[in-house]
Amino acid sequence: MHIADDLIVRVERDTDHSAVDNVLRDAFGHRDVADAVQTARRSELYTSSLGFVGDLCDEIVAMALLAPVTVDGLRAVDTVHPGANIMALATVAVAKTYQRKGLGAVVLKAAIRTAQLRGLSTLVVVGDPRYFRRFGFEPASKVGLTPGFDIDPDTFLALPIKELAETGVVAYSMPIMRLATPA
Ligand SMILES: CC(C)(COP(=O)(O)OP(=O)(O)OC[C@H]1O[C@@H](n2cnc3c(N)ncnc32)[C@H](O)[C@@H]1OP(=O)(O)O)[C@@H](O)C(=O)NCCC(=O)NCCS
Repeated sequence: MHIADDLIVRVERDTDHSAVDNVLRDAFGHRDVADAVQTARRSELYTSSLGFVGDLCDEIVAMALLAPVTVDGLRAVDTVHPGANIMALATVAVAKTYQRKGLGAVVLKAAIRTAQLRGLSTLVVVGDPRYFRRFGFEPASKVGLTPGFDIDPDTFLALPIKELAETGVVAYSMPIMRLATPA
Protein backbone atom coordinates (compact mmCIF):
# COMPACT_ATOMS: atom_id res chain seq x y z
CA MET A 1 0.00 0.00 0.00
CA HIS A 2 1.16 3.53 -0.76
CA ILE A 3 2.05 5.70 2.25
CA ALA A 4 -0.23 8.48 0.93
CA ASP A 5 -3.20 6.15 1.40
CA ASP A 6 -2.59 6.29 5.16
CA LEU A 7 -2.54 10.08 5.36
CA ILE A 8 -5.55 11.53 7.11
CA VAL A 9 -6.18 15.16 6.16
CA ARG A 10 -8.26 17.18 8.57
CA VAL A 11 -8.82 20.77 9.59
CA GLU A 12 -6.12 22.15 11.86
CA ARG A 13 -6.78 22.35 15.61
CA ASP A 14 -5.17 24.80 18.05
CA THR A 15 -3.22 21.89 19.50
CA ASP A 16 -1.61 21.27 16.08
CA HIS A 17 0.17 24.64 15.91
CA SER A 18 3.58 23.56 17.14
CA ALA A 19 3.55 20.42 14.95
CA VAL A 20 2.62 22.56 11.93
CA ASP A 21 5.42 24.98 12.75
CA ASN A 22 7.84 22.04 12.89
CA VAL A 23 6.69 20.82 9.46
CA LEU A 24 7.19 24.32 8.04
CA ARG A 25 10.66 24.77 9.53
CA ASP A 26 11.70 21.34 8.33
CA ALA A 27 10.22 21.63 4.82
CA PHE A 28 11.56 25.12 4.08
CA GLY A 29 14.84 24.70 5.94
CA HIS A 30 14.40 28.01 7.77
CA ARG A 31 11.91 29.46 10.22
CA ASP A 32 10.61 32.47 8.28
CA VAL A 33 7.44 30.81 6.98
CA ALA A 34 6.63 29.25 10.36
CA ASP A 35 7.14 32.66 12.00
CA ALA A 36 4.90 34.33 9.41
CA VAL A 37 2.18 31.72 10.00
CA GLN A 38 2.45 32.30 13.75
CA THR A 39 1.93 36.02 13.14
CA ALA A 40 -0.98 35.30 10.82
CA ARG A 41 -2.68 33.24 13.52
CA ARG A 42 -3.00 36.44 15.55
CA SER A 43 -4.77 38.18 12.65
CA GLU A 44 -8.49 38.78 13.03
CA LEU A 45 -8.89 37.22 9.58
CA TYR A 46 -7.38 33.93 10.69
CA THR A 47 -9.65 31.00 11.44
CA SER A 48 -8.48 27.48 12.00
CA SER A 49 -10.82 26.31 9.23
CA LEU A 50 -8.25 27.74 6.79
CA GLY A 51 -5.60 25.28 7.88
CA PHE A 52 -5.24 21.61 6.98
CA VAL A 53 -2.94 19.04 8.47
CA GLY A 54 -1.85 15.67 7.15
CA ASP A 55 -1.74 13.14 9.97
CA LEU A 56 0.25 9.99 9.39
CA CYS A 57 -0.19 7.51 12.24
CA ASP A 58 -0.68 10.33 14.79
CA GLU A 59 2.21 12.40 13.47
CA ILE A 60 1.58 15.69 11.65
CA VAL A 61 3.81 15.47 8.58
CA ALA A 62 2.09 17.77 6.10
CA MET A 63 0.11 20.98 6.06
CA ALA A 64 -1.69 23.40 3.77
CA LEU A 65 -3.08 26.81 4.56
CA LEU A 66 -5.60 28.95 2.73
CA ALA A 67 -5.51 32.71 3.18
CA PRO A 68 -7.77 35.64 2.37
CA VAL A 69 -6.68 38.11 -0.28
CA THR A 70 -7.86 41.43 -1.61
CA VAL A 71 -8.54 42.12 -5.28
CA ASP A 72 -8.08 45.74 -6.29
CA GLY A 73 -8.03 46.59 -2.61
CA LEU A 74 -11.34 44.93 -1.79
CA ARG A 75 -11.61 41.89 0.40
CA ALA A 76 -12.14 39.06 -2.03
CA VAL A 77 -14.14 36.67 0.09
CA ASP A 78 -17.29 38.64 0.54
CA THR A 79 -20.76 37.18 0.95
CA VAL A 80 -22.34 40.50 -0.01
CA HIS A 81 -20.56 40.56 -3.36
CA PRO A 82 -20.42 36.89 -4.24
CA GLY A 83 -18.61 37.50 -7.53
CA ALA A 84 -15.41 38.20 -5.67
CA ASN A 85 -14.53 34.87 -4.19
CA ILE A 86 -10.81 34.43 -4.40
CA MET A 87 -8.45 33.01 -1.82
CA ALA A 88 -4.80 32.07 -1.81
CA LEU A 89 -3.11 28.86 -1.00
CA ALA A 90 -0.73 30.49 1.45
CA THR A 91 1.54 27.52 1.73
CA VAL A 92 1.76 23.77 1.41
CA ALA A 93 4.54 21.79 3.03
CA VAL A 94 5.59 18.25 3.77
CA ALA A 95 8.26 17.26 6.32
CA LYS A 96 11.49 16.46 4.47
CA THR A 97 11.57 12.74 5.24
CA TYR A 98 8.13 12.33 3.75
CA GLN A 99 8.53 14.42 0.61
CA ARG A 100 8.03 12.97 -2.89
CA LYS A 101 5.69 10.26 -1.62
CA GLY A 102 2.48 11.88 -2.77
CA LEU A 103 1.57 13.47 0.56
CA GLY A 104 1.80 17.03 -0.76
CA ALA A 105 -0.70 16.12 -3.45
CA VAL A 106 -3.12 14.73 -0.86
CA VAL A 107 -3.15 17.85 1.37
CA LEU A 108 -3.22 20.14 -1.64
CA LYS A 109 -6.21 18.34 -3.13
CA ALA A 110 -8.02 18.63 0.22
CA ALA A 111 -7.41 22.40 0.24
CA ILE A 112 -8.60 22.66 -3.36
CA ARG A 113 -11.71 20.62 -2.57
CA THR A 114 -12.49 22.98 0.31
CA ALA A 115 -12.08 25.96 -2.00
CA GLN A 116 -14.54 24.36 -4.41
CA LEU A 117 -17.04 23.56 -1.65
CA ARG A 118 -16.81 27.13 -0.34
CA GLY A 119 -17.90 28.29 -3.77
CA LEU A 120 -14.68 30.14 -4.53
CA SER A 121 -14.14 31.23 -8.11
CA THR A 122 -10.34 31.13 -8.06
CA LEU A 123 -7.50 29.95 -5.88
CA VAL A 124 -4.13 31.65 -6.31
CA VAL A 125 -0.69 30.56 -5.18
CA VAL A 126 2.90 31.73 -5.42
CA GLY A 127 4.74 28.59 -6.42
CA ASP A 128 6.70 26.58 -8.94
CA PRO A 129 4.52 26.06 -12.01
CA ARG A 130 6.18 22.67 -12.58
CA TYR A 131 4.65 21.43 -9.34
CA PHE A 132 1.34 23.24 -9.32
CA ARG A 133 0.21 22.82 -12.92
CA ARG A 134 -0.68 19.16 -12.37
CA PHE A 135 -3.43 20.40 -10.04
CA GLY A 136 -4.83 22.76 -12.68
CA PHE A 137 -2.95 25.94 -11.74
CA GLU A 138 -1.96 28.16 -14.65
CA PRO A 139 -0.32 31.58 -14.94
CA ALA A 140 -2.62 33.96 -13.07
CA SER A 141 -2.25 36.48 -15.87
CA LYS A 142 -4.30 34.12 -18.06
CA VAL A 143 -7.33 34.70 -15.84
CA GLY A 144 -6.73 38.42 -15.43
CA LEU A 145 -5.05 38.39 -12.02
CA THR A 146 -1.77 40.14 -11.31
CA PRO A 147 0.27 40.18 -8.11
CA GLY A 148 0.24 43.41 -6.15
CA PHE A 149 3.76 42.74 -4.91
CA ASP A 150 7.16 42.12 -6.35
CA ILE A 151 7.61 38.51 -7.49
CA ASP A 152 8.55 36.68 -10.64
CA PRO A 153 5.19 36.84 -12.47
CA ASP A 154 5.73 33.29 -13.75
CA THR A 155 5.33 32.04 -10.19
CA PHE A 156 2.00 33.73 -9.58
CA LEU A 157 -0.50 31.01 -10.43
CA ALA A 158 -4.25 30.64 -10.41
CA LEU A 159 -6.60 27.69 -10.34
CA PRO A 160 -9.83 28.71 -12.06
CA ILE A 161 -12.82 27.09 -10.34
CA LYS A 162 -15.69 29.07 -11.83
CA GLU A 163 -15.91 30.63 -15.26
CA LEU A 164 -17.00 34.12 -14.26
CA ALA A 165 -14.32 35.18 -11.84
CA GLU A 166 -13.01 38.42 -10.44
CA THR A 167 -9.98 39.97 -12.15
CA GLY A 168 -7.54 42.57 -10.86
CA VAL A 169 -4.55 43.08 -8.62
CA VAL A 170 -4.22 40.56 -5.81
CA ALA A 171 -2.71 41.37 -2.45
CA TYR A 172 -2.55 39.24 0.64
CA SER A 173 -4.56 40.15 3.69
CA MET A 174 -2.35 38.33 6.16
CA PRO A 175 1.42 38.53 6.56
CA ILE A 176 2.13 35.08 5.20
CA MET A 177 2.62 35.22 1.54
CA ARG A 178 5.75 35.68 -0.48
CA LEU A 179 7.72 34.08 2.32
CA ALA A 180 6.40 30.79 1.06
CA THR A 181 8.77 30.87 -1.84
CA PRO A 182 8.24 28.64 -4.83
CA ALA A 183 8.88 24.93 -4.45
C1 LIG B 1 6.36 21.18 -2.57
C2 LIG B 1 5.98 20.06 -1.62
C3 LIG B 1 4.79 20.49 -0.74
C4 LIG B 1 5.57 18.86 -2.47
O1 LIG B 1 5.11 17.83 -1.61
P1 LIG B 1 5.57 16.33 -1.89
O2 LIG B 1 4.78 15.46 -0.99
O3 LIG B 1 7.04 16.27 -1.80
O4 LIG B 1 5.13 16.18 -3.43
P2 LIG B 1 4.34 14.98 -4.08
O5 LIG B 1 4.93 13.70 -3.58
O6 LIG B 1 2.90 15.20 -3.97
O7 LIG B 1 4.76 15.18 -5.58
C5 LIG B 1 6.07 14.80 -5.96
C6 LIG B 1 6.35 15.37 -7.29
O8 LIG B 1 6.24 16.77 -7.22
C7 LIG B 1 7.31 17.35 -7.91
N1 LIG B 1 8.04 18.11 -6.94
C8 LIG B 1 8.21 17.87 -5.61
N2 LIG B 1 8.97 18.81 -5.06
C9 LIG B 1 9.27 19.64 -6.06
C10 LIG B 1 10.05 20.81 -6.13
N3 LIG B 1 10.68 21.30 -5.07
N4 LIG B 1 10.13 21.45 -7.33
C11 LIG B 1 9.50 20.95 -8.43
N5 LIG B 1 8.78 19.84 -8.42
C12 LIG B 1 8.68 19.20 -7.25
C13 LIG B 1 8.12 16.28 -8.53
O9 LIG B 1 7.68 16.10 -9.85
C14 LIG B 1 7.76 15.08 -7.73
O10 LIG B 1 7.74 13.93 -8.51
P3 LIG B 1 9.06 13.01 -8.56
O11 LIG B 1 9.39 12.67 -7.14
O12 LIG B 1 8.59 11.86 -9.36
O13 LIG B 1 10.10 13.83 -9.22
C15 LIG B 1 7.15 19.63 -0.71
O14 LIG B 1 8.23 19.21 -1.52
C16 LIG B 1 7.63 20.72 0.23
O15 LIG B 1 7.18 20.78 1.37
N6 LIG B 1 8.56 21.57 -0.22
C17 LIG B 1 9.10 22.65 0.61
C18 LIG B 1 8.06 23.72 0.86
C19 LIG B 1 7.57 24.37 -0.43
O16 LIG B 1 8.38 24.74 -1.28
N7 LIG B 1 6.23 24.52 -0.56
C20 LIG B 1 5.63 25.04 -1.78
C21 LIG B 1 5.58 26.52 -1.83
S1 LIG B 1 4.30 27.12 -0.79
